Amino acid sequence: MADLEFRDVHKSFGAVRALGGVSFAVREGETHACVGENGAGKSTLLKIVAGILRADRGEILWRGAPLRVGSPHDALAVTDRVGRLDEPAMRSRAAALLDELHVPVSADRRMEHLSPAHVQLVQVARALAFDCRVLVLDEPTTSLTDAEATQLFGVLAALKARGVTILFVSHRLPEVFRLCDRITVLRDGHHIATFDREAATVDQVVRAMVGREPPGHVPRERPAGDARPALSVRDLVRRPRVNGVSFDVAAGEIVGVFGLVGSGRTELVETIFGLARPDAGSVDVHGHRLAPGAPASAIRSGVALVPEDRQRQGLFFNLSLGDNLALPGAALVSHRLIRRREERDGAASQIAALSIKAPGLQVTPDRLSGGNQQKVVVGKWLGIAPRVLLLDEPTKGVDIGAKYEIHNIIRREASRGMACLVASSDLPEVLALADRILVVRDGRLRGELSAVEADEERVMRLAAAPAEGPA
Ligand SMILES: Nc1ncnc2c1ncn2[C@@H]1O[C@H](COP(=O)(O)OP(=O)(O)OP(=O)(O)O)[C@@H](O)[C@H]1O
Ligand SMILES: [Mg+2]
Repeated sequence: MADLEFRDVHKSFGAVRALGGVSFAVREGETHACVGENGAGKSTLLKIVAGILRADRGEILWRGAPLRVGSPHDALAVTDRVGRLDEPAMRSRAAALLDELHVPVSADRRMEHLSPAHVQLVQVARALAFDCRVLVLDEPTTSLTDAEATQLFGVLAALKARGVTILFVSHRLPEVFRLCDRITVLRDGHHIATFDREAATVDQVVRAMVGREPPGHVPRERPAGDARPALSVRDLVRRPRVNGVSFDVAAGEIVGVFGLVGSGRTELVETIFGLARPDAGSVDVHGHRLAPGAPASAIRSGVALVPEDRQRQGLFFNLSLGDNLALPGAALVSHRLIRRREERDGAASQIAALSIKAPGLQVTPDRLSGGNQQKVVVGKWLGIAPRVLLLDEPTKGVDIGAKYEIHNIIRREASRGMACLVASSDLPEVLALADRILVVRDGRLRGELSAVEADEERVMRLAAAPAEGPA
């Protein structure tokens, strides 16, 4: 029986058509994935189910009857990355549920103090507290470690066993195939196909998503070596997360930093860039010592950082897309915000290169889908071709086509002499991209592997805490 049925659902934002008549059904008790490229309309569809947005046309049926939008909590609960647990009456039930789900969090904690993993689990608990029959999740694992994602999947399996219907959006096809009964593909606001997981292959789903053959990797050319390192980090300490780290990156080299969430990966990158002031140690760029704790010094020396948290650090939400793409270049050229013609052309070409889906250069980033925002952050720094590029989780939330594009741009710029440090918890990404992999755990380098000798098992063995004995 269809639990939830979408019938010809339309939604536009001004001239942008996010959904152009979507029809498909979700069966009672199944786990149903919704996949598609950035801007395909996935979040919009989920927001309509949740009553956050209203459809322009069409309807959603809940067990055969039109869903009363505006009272989403009757039947549905939504977990998104911005939920809050603020209904006082739910406190005690929430506490009991958190306990039942083995989530080590007090129901009185404010959500902004929780880790992304705990936010997710609290939101699922909230859905349970509402006794929801349908659970909707938008990219729930984007900020989770593998272990945390596994914990969440365990909770979702328990909900499925209770008969809860689950509709979730993800860019991570392995988890989609692991978790789902059926997979719906959206492209450009249209329903393309719904696959039975058992009968579908990853290739089929990807082809339906992108509507063409998926892009391949460009071959990697290493430039003729320069003896001096482009980036030289010595005995860097930023307590408690960075505990004495030394390494070099040569011009033209792509070095991966792999560590599980909490390993000190992000803190290391931020300390190199100067966002965090080091307690000890030094950073040199092409032989020039950076002023500690001063990002302006790093930028002047040709260092750029693509931060992990695009919402807080990566974008200027009060500026247009064009300004966002032009800003780092303008800042470097003049330290003032001067829009120049080339910069606007540069912005337009970045939008084309990364296929950023946006109605124009004038819009502010909040009008873009999550993955397209990420492309803007990456694109604006790649556009100025820095001498040293630091990237933290560069393809988080980005669709598979754009992921290849971003990798290809990094490879191309490295071939032209850019030194690149890529920190990521996405091991396949690090293995695909890096010439050399540094593994961090507890703020220290635990090993270094060349691309030739690295494989998943060897990297994971270095990254995971030893099973017994002190670390
Ligand atoms: N508030 C808004 N104002 C204007 N346009 C919007 C708004 N929200 C979404 N859009 C546009 O609607 C389209 C669909 O966006 P949506 O967020 O549903 O995509 P998505 O499939 O979730 O993508 P992603 O994988 O990047 O999260 C995009 O072109 C987006 O720019
Ligand atoms: Mg989305």
